[in-house]
Amino acid sequence: MKILVVGGGGREHAIIWKLNQSPLVKEIYCAPGNAGIGTIAKNVDISSDDTEKLIKFSRETGIDLTVVGPEEPLVRGIVDKFRQKGLKIIGPTEHAAQLEGSKAFAKGFMKKYNIPTAQYNVATTFEQASAIIENCSYPVMVKASGLAAGKGAFICESKGEALNMAKKLLDEKILGKSGDNIVIEEFLHGTETSILCFIDGNTIIPMANSQDHKRAFDGDEGEMTGGMGAFSPNYVYTEEIAKRTEAEILQPTLIGIQKEKMDYRGIIYVGLMITKEGPKVLEYNVRFGDPEAQTILPRLETDLAEIFNKIVDGRLKDININWSEEGTVCVMLASEGYPGNYKKGLEIKGLENISKDLLIFHSGTAKDGEHGERITTNGGRVLGIVGKGKTIDEAREKVYKNIGKISFKGAFYRTDIGFGR
Ligand code: AMP
Ligand code: GLY
Repeated sequence: MKILVVGGGGREHAIIWKLNQSPLVKEIYCAPGNAGIGTIAKNVDISSDDTEKLIKFSRETGIDLTVVGPEEPLVRGIVDKFRQKGLKIIGPTEHAAQLEGSKAFAKGFMKKYNIPTAQYNVATTFEQASAIIENCSYPVMVKASGLAAGKGAFICESKGEALNMAKKLLDEKILGKSGDNIVIEEFLHGTETSILCFIDGNTIIPMANSQDHKRAFDGDEGEMTGGMGAFSPNYVYTEEIAKRTEAEILQPTLIGIQKEKMDYRGIIYVGLMITKEGPKVLEYNVRFGDPEAQTILPRLETDLAEIFNKIVDGRLKDININWSEEGTVCVMLASEGYPGNYKKGLEIKGLENISKDLLIFHSGTAKDGEHGERITTNGGRVLGIVGKGKTIDEAREKVYKNIGKISFKGAFYRTDIGFGR
């Protein structure tokens, strides 16, 4: 098979690393890719948002299957456009991608299909928001409904803060059109877990669970980011919770997707809060998580290309999917200033000094210099260092023994990934 992966971050590097182990896979292309991906696949200079060019490339190159990493192209309907041209692709249709593209849509879906989630209201004007906020208890979540790269959810501790946030989103448009409507939502207490699932429209199969650390700094301080690290498995996700999640959340989600005729053949990521009353959905994402994928895929023992083929054909029930018993930990090295402004083009040194039993998945990196001999930073999150061990503790120790060997100006990382579970 010839496979095209759309995207160019750590998640896509992990997907390609896994696909590269499959005897079914002959060639892998990645658009646009990054410096690390370029060592195991062919980087193609096409933006992940340029659907027309991606279609042209797929046809000319004879791509057998396309896999989409990031949410933006999915929400803009890349899957429908590829399928209209008879090209095979993994991902939700534009309609199904609304489960991530619009929080208001996702909450409406959960309500309709009785899927446990936080109580909520939607507002499209500041006047509506004020009336809702008048009757809330605190803290309360105020969220932009549209896409915001993981940075559109705000915890508000008081009425004043909630009103202020609603104004910033609805009137001042700090997140542009993504804040055209907002979701005001009950704050849930508990432990978060990410349940990524394979789905083919007939069957939904959860992957090994994982947990992401979303705040920029140690002790969950600082701003929300795309994710500063992750680990798998999360031991709070017991068999009992898993059974409840399957019955109360995953199966009703599948039924809802079928009833709404979404034709969803791809990955669905269910972000859960394990509360005292049981698991509740915080959000749906319509793709692999980043950095969750970097911790889950190294534990996958089944051929990922074969799983993708089964998804496209709607025959997911015909495959057994196995996971290793190991624990994995991924720590992200980020650029100074992330998730705000940061510099690009800084030389990364010391990659060769990392112990060979660790995995390095590149996020924002590029090749630079006259002969492309230097590897430089090209994003906010730069590299994910992944350790494996019999336990999470063993995996984490390996990562932290090594991560300091890599350097670039202003590099920072959290030192508590996988602790305090
Ligand atoms: P979202 O973009 O909706 O996933 O929210 C981003 C993050 O905000 C989640 O991963 C949680 O850490 C936090 N969060 C979102 N909704 C809630 C909620 N209702 N209660 C508590 N924390 C939440
Ligand atoms: N790590 C969170 C996400 O991928 O959305």
